Amino acid sequence: MKKQFKVVELLTSTPLLSEVKVNGWVRTFRNNQFIALNDGSTINNIQCVVDFENTSEEILKRITTGAAVSLTGTLAESKGAGQKVEVQVATIEILGDSDAEKYPMQPKKHSLEFLRENAHLRIRTNAFGAIMRVRSTLAFAVHQYFQEKGFFYVNTPIVTGSDAEGAGEMFKVTALPFDNTPRTEEGKVNYKEDFFGKETNLTVSGQLEAETYAMALGQVYTFGPTFRAENSNTSRHLAEFWMIEPEVAFNDLAANMDLAEDFIKYVINYTVNKHQDDLKFLEQRLIDEEKNKPQAERSEMSLLEKLNFVLENNFKRVSYTEAIDILRDSTPNKKKKFQYLIEEWGADLQSEHERFLVEKHFKCPVILFDYPAKIKAFYMRLNEDGKTVRAMDILFPGIGEIVGGSQREERYDVLIEKMKALGIDEKELWWYLDTRRFGTAVHSGFGLGFERLVLFVTGMTNIRDVIPFPRTPQNAEF
Ligand code: 4AD
Ligand code: MG
Repeated sequence: MKKQFKVVELLTSTPLLSEVKVNGWVRTFRNNQFIALNDGSTINNIQCVVDFENTSEEILKRITTGAAVSLTGTLAESKGAGQKVEVQVATIEILGDSDAEKYPMQPKKHSLEFLRENAHLRIRTNAFGAIMRVRSTLAFAVHQYFQEKGFFYVNTPIVTGSDAEGAGEMFKVTALPFDNTPRTEEGKVNYKEDFFGKETNLTVSGQLEAETYAMALGQVYTFGPTFRAENSNTSRHLAEFWMIEPEVAFNDLAANMDLAEDFIKYVINYTVNKHQDDLKFLEQRLIDEEKNKPQAERSEMSLLEKLNFVLENNFKRVSYTEAIDILRDSTPNKKKKFQYLIEEWGADLQSEHERFLVEKHFKCPVILFDYPAKIKAFYMRLNEDGKTVRAMDILFPGIGEIVGGSQREERYDVLIEKMKALGIDEKELWWYLDTRRFGTAVHSGFGLGFERLVLFVTGMTNIRDVIPFPRTPQNAEF
């Protein structure tokens, strides 16, 4: 039996080997002789040289773009430019034919829109192979970071009865029939007759449940799917996305910011070190794309420079109040270039404002903190001024908000007051309130949108291109 190798192993093998076997998909086949073979293990193809004089016409015809093949031969030094080694093919087995004319992933440049419509095949392109390998490593680094720091991984429920963010943008989970839906005497849907005997939704965040775990295990994190039925068709929103939510007992807001910054730097650093080839490819892709843009819109840094910049510089910590002053006096505000003009303290920040702060004003990642209580969720710790809460959002260049977090309101009475004011039913959250009744303590956490992190690291601009099968309004194909 010949030993089977992955392409990445062959490309980095120092001894030349006499008997190798490699499986993969044909990217191109030139001059009836050179197969560029890829198996997904690396962005790089291995050149496989076919002895066409001793190969049947029938087999040669079946070596087409997209076909799955199994090759055996010798790993030899390559005479061709651009590669150190190549496989001199002894035997060819066609595992799966590919109709080259109909194969959607022709070896040429495709638009990202076209690739989205072919999300089941786009992974066979260089760009999407690179993106998804990077995504996988980022996910691994998330676990590694927290596990090394002694955090415990908690799987919070996907079906919940609570609306953690109080935003009401949830997908309903029900087993009730749409015809003859059971009704109460008042004519409302009778959820008592539903599967769970109550109204349930897909989770928008695992935070509230994670808090109960932090109040027992100390340091925990979640990493799971979250769902939001916001009808925002933007390049940064998905209806189904993955969120990482650490929650830490005894951490205040400053410690929460330190944790978030350290964590983000760790996962980026880990991934940059492991994926030089993929990131160099994505960097070049971005440079090519920007050639079509006017000079002023091109980024000043290449992808890897931008990633290193984040690793080497402190995130700028700025209070909401300072940020409002900066925005109010900014040129785009004075010249009425913002869609939403900043006039008063208390205004919610839109992504145009966040991006101005990060990209034009500070030119580095920014952590905004101490937001007005009115524009933030009920669970955030009220400051002594009575009008701001210990919230923090981390803003990234090209992305806007990547993290949202806070120190939590640990005082039972204050929490109850806030819930009352917002019309949140105490009875629904009795279990959450219990954590404030039995051994309450200062604690903090945050949520990082995983796809927004992948966007940043890969330099992609549309969130639909960094998750395998995106779910967005009017779209749940695959
Ligand atoms: O700011 P958000 O809404 O915060 C929470 O859900 C808190 N419960 C987190 C916590 O403190 N444990 O969401 C957190 C992050 C955002 O900063 C953003 O990166 C991402 O989740 N996010 C989305 N990503 C993609 N598509 C969407 N529709 C998103 N909504 C939020
Ligand atoms: Mg937020």
